Amino acid sequence: MLYAARTVCARAPRSRRAACLGLGAAALSWATGCEGPFSALDPAGKDAEQIATLFYVMVAGGGLIWLAVMGLAIYALARPSATRDRKKIRMLVVGGGVAFPTVVLTALLTHGLSLMPELLDPGPMDGLKIRVIGEQWWWRVQYEVPGGAPFELANELRLPVGRRTPIGLEATEIIHAFWVPALAGKIDMIPGRKNRLALEPTRTGVFGGACAEYCGLSHAKMLFEVVVLEPDEFDAWVEAQRAPAARPQAGSPAANGELLFQALGCGACHTVRGTEATGTIGPDLTHVASRRRIGANLLDADRAGLRRWLTDLKQLKPGVHMPSFDMLPERELAAITAYLEGLR
Ligand code: CUA
Repeated sequence: MLYAARTVCARAPRSRRAACLGLGAAALSWATGCEGPFSALDPAGKDAEQIATLFYVMVAGGGLIWLAVMGLAIYALARPSATRDRKKIRMLVVGGGVAFPTVVLTALLTHGLSLMPELLDPGPMDGLKIRVIGEQWWWRVQYEVPGGAPFELANELRLPVGRRTPIGLEATEIIHAFWVPALAGKIDMIPGRKNRLALEPTRTGVFGGACAEYCGLSHAKMLFEVVVLEPDEFDAWVEAQRAPAARPQAGSPAANGELLFQALGCGACHTVRGTEATGTIGPDLTHVASRRRIGANLLDADRAGLRRWLTDLKQLKPGVHMPSFDMLPERELAAITAYLEGLR
């Protein structure tokens, strides 16, 4: 795009080249600003599509009104005041200043309110249900899928494409807000209250989610991902998540890592289903390495990411409740990392 703008502008006369490049840059920011996993203007969900349409209607309507007002202002300035007809002026003020805004704002309000029932429709309540709880500063995600045991994960939602899934939203200590711009609108998560939202993705892909309410030191580091899958891929993922944690091979560094994990008391805060670790303060780690990211979308869920989380988390996420393990010798860090890496 930038290349195209420069090529086209090179042919423009020297005096108009700056204006041409300016227009090109504006077009570039417009075109690229609308894409990406966090974009509400690149919708991948039914609700987000309606919100994006509403946005474009408002921008177009607002733009037209702005042009009309500017036109009238220029007209009024350019015309000598002696030629003005008082009666016409009064009609213009009443028509343009009272009647027009009343009609336009009423129409916009009616249209906006008419979208509400659809946006608030939770979808079928007898199928897949997800509960997301805002913690400091991460997302506890609980799945209830008919035909099997519930399970928990963190900072990642997986959804089947084309199905409306109700999401229950709660918080423990402080107000957060759940927002996946490409899929739906946002809604607050308030301690002591149950809010609800539904996600209905229209295409597969990975979409970004963020906390949209200032909630303390690491608010800006409270992100998550929504992975939208084909229904059969989603069912396979559910089966894998329901399974207990993989056990490391006896005598391997990962087996040593599991012993260290227990000895250091990690299980007091974290659950690893199928082992003695049953803590519920921190994220469930049963299948932590099957996720795309860890630390609320801070690092990849691979060896390097897991290792860095153990030692650098105070820098990575200020205010986090988990203690840093940078005092451990390298051998022990490597063993714990190997154990976590095996939790797929
Ligand atoms: Cu949670 Cu901001």
